[in-house]
Amino acid sequence: MRLQAPRGTFDVLPEQARAREAVEHAARRVLEGAGYERVETPAFEATELFARGVGESTDVVQKEMYSFDDGGGRSMTLRPEGTAPVCRAYSEHGMHKLPQPVKLWYLSSFFRHEAPQAGRFRQFWQVGAEALGSDDPAVDAESILLLAELLETLGVGELRLRLSSLGSPATRATYRAGLQEYLRSRAGELSDDVRARIELNPLRAFDSEHPGTRAVMADAPRLLDALEPEDREHFAQVRALLDRVDLSYEVDPTLVRGLDYYTRTVFEFSSDALGAQSGVGGGGRYDGLVALLGGPPTGGMGWAAGVERMLLAAAPQPVAAPPAELFVAWTGEAQRVAAFALVADARRSGLHAQLDLAGRSLKGQLRHAGRLDARWVALLTDEGAELRDMESGEQEPVAVEQVVARVQRPIL
Ligand code: HAM
Repeated sequence: MRLQAPRGTFDVLPEQARAREAVEHAARRVLEGAGYERVETPAFEATELFARGVGESTDVVQKEMYSFDDGGGRSMTLRPEGTAPVCRAYSEHGMHKLPQPVKLWYLSSFFRHEAPQAGRFRQFWQVGAEALGSDDPAVDAESILLLAELLETLGVGELRLRLSSLGSPATRATYRAGLQEYLRSRAGELSDDVRARIELNPLRAFDSEHPGTRAVMADAPRLLDALEPEDREHFAQVRALLDRVDLSYEVDPTLVRGLDYYTRTVFEFSSDALGAQSGVGGGGRYDGLVALLGGPPTGGMGWAAGVERMLLAAAPQPVAAPPAELFVAWTGEAQRVAAFALVADARRSGLHAQLDLAGRSLKGQLRHAGRLDARWVALLTDEGAELRDMESGEQEPVAVEQVVARVQRPIL
């Protein structure tokens, strides 16, 4: 039986790899242009990091983690997201001693055991950006604006930005208790799933597609109406900054994110160019997370955007492989080694150079050079070397040691 890639995973083939390089290039330009520096954390971490950081009651921790015993009785988990690991790294490496905020970005793969469908995979890639060490509303606005710029650079269409604020943990706790009371009072109208989660995660009720639950939630108390004055002011300042740079958004008081660490600002970009999995990228502020993981009290704000979803929504033009500048064809055993050495030389001089590696006849080699769209072909035969300009078809004798110089500075 022929083996296949596991369900929910995919191979990145050369053409797709080139499209991904365009994403990486755009991310680097947009983020490094704003002072973000690249960081990478391990592909797996102690399970406790995500249990504590992302939250025991979230779907991610409850159902979606690939966890395993490391052979020494410790539970490890393939990272389902990047924020908790970056916060761990921030305090582990004493980054709170650096000038704040510390701005970090990553492009890595993440793992979630979800039901695969279009735009939803079990191994997927995210571009993420985290700014740690400041609770200035300008950090929030800048962070959101950078994701907007990245999506625009990539040509992700039909975008919608939703924005809300979750306030402080204390406000949320009071609000949560009030919401639970409300949900209990109308429990009979809720879906079984939502009813079962009233105690564990009542906020997720806003996410439900169930008609009865939706009707109940339309009249539910809203967190946005219960914010403390300083959180209300913080949110107003974030909005004012976004207004000032003409980034349009809608305030959506029902916006909930699937991770527990958020405080104050939360946001999500979705694209109608995608199907059911319309979330392209999202994030928010997480002022308690570093401390929750044992570090110093630290403000944080960031986002992550799915690479596959950005590519699906942007439908970028496939990028062609760069053509070879030089192809070295040869015939006669004596030329074999000379051709190999010439190609090595050409590459050392910075040329994209290739030679036949499949035992083709001279005719076959020339045909192959055409397929590679080679600009120049050096022919090494018993009679000596010749250089052919593939554009004009002209061919001239050349000394082998002159080939690289001639290709770099053609005089034909
Ligand atoms: P998230 O909303 O869980 O946030 O994921 C961010 C993005 O990753 C989503 O909008 C989506 O594009 C992509 N994504 C998530 N799951 C999958 C999947 N199974 N298949 C394909 N793409 C997927 C976070 O992960 C937070 N760490 C974001 C953040 C950073 N918040 C603050 N800082």
